[in-house]
Amino acid sequence: MARKILVTGGTGYIGSHTVVELQQAGYEVIIVDNLSNSNADVIEGIVRITGQRPVFEKLDCTDMPAMQALFDRHRGIDGIIHFAASKAVGESVKKPLKYYRNNIVSLINLLELMPKFDVKGIVFSSSCTVYGEPDSNPIDESAPIKPATSPYGNTKQINEEIIQDFIHSGAPIKSVILRYFNPIGAHPSAEIGELPLGVPQNLVPFITQTGIGIRKELSVFGNDYNTPDGTCIRDFINVVDLAKAHVIAIERMLENKSNESVEIFNLGTGRGLSVLELIHVFEKVTGKPLNYKIVGRREGDIEQIWANPERANKILGWKAEESIEDTMASAWKWQLRLRERGIM
Ligand code: UD1
Repeated sequence: MARKILVTGGTGYIGSHTVVELQQAGYEVIIVDNLSNSNADVIEGIVRITGQRPVFEKLDCTDMPAMQALFDRHRGIDGIIHFAASKAVGESVKKPLKYYRNNIVSLINLLELMPKFDVKGIVFSSSCTVYGEPDSNPIDESAPIKPATSPYGNTKQINEEIIQDFIHSGAPIKSVILRYFNPIGAHPSAEIGELPLGVPQNLVPFITQTGIGIRKELSVFGNDYNTPDGTCIRDFINVVDLAKAHVIAIERMLENKSNESVEIFNLGTGRGLSVLELIHVFEKVTGKPLNYKIVGRREGDIEQIWANPERANKILGWKAEESIEDTMASAWKWQLRLRERGIM
């Protein structure tokens, strides 16, 4: 019988790509999402790719009675992949309690329910933001955790600790914590992708929206950093590559392939690319010049960070495979598809 996986935030950007990979690997998926930052139409995109309809429950993970009822309705959930969270760094500074409530209460509810319903493991979406400004790059999992620069970043650190404390207390569950670098791109079918509501905060949606004319120009936040071209450096990782790592992580937990109850992995390519370099990749793959201007630094930005992904490469047997060119081309194809469909 197919294993059942609960994917919280499953209609979101990384969540939807992971649902596709899970279904294609033979898992049965139940999505929980409150649709606060996504749309139920995403499910149709998933169905068009996989030919399978995941169960969808419109619920808020902070609602404990509703979550308990969900586990009652869907007996036999084997594992959870927990994406559901608020993720806008700037907003988190203005509305910290929203971030602490959404991100922390959701996790606590899931952890409390797991032993009651015999759920064996949870994969948690963390972020390279826990490293702060690294002392050196590439950065591996043993690097120190630096004080968070935003409530959003703090929720990732706190949630990592909550998971570890709960497991160290003897809770009968396992966890894999995945620290993502900068996920970008879309499914190659262009049936699903990133769909930010309102003005995009992240770089790639802003680039593609500028490319298609929704935005007049991209502001590049600072060219006076201590990097070769002066702009920030990130490790941009293809979202489908990232999604595949979740399938490996869940299988590893459910099949008890590890002796450790908690494992932490960086998910990145191991290659740093500057903001300007990424813009030039976009221009190359689309053949379009991008309208951009250099403006002042954005508060809270890290100068440069890229992953040492060796642990994930060796232990998970996972590696980022897509080229940055194909990844940017996929983001552009998705933007064109949104236009065709009259969505943007
Ligand atoms: C941030 C968070 C990360 C979080 C992610 C989710 C930090 C340090 N990083 O990533 O943890 O998971 O958001 O939303 O908290 N840029 C521009 N112009 C733009 C937009 C971005 O120049 O219009 C630049 C930024 O200054 C940055 C780079 O592009 O140097 C990447 O920015 P972004 O896509 O927002 O991601 P991060 O800030 O790296």
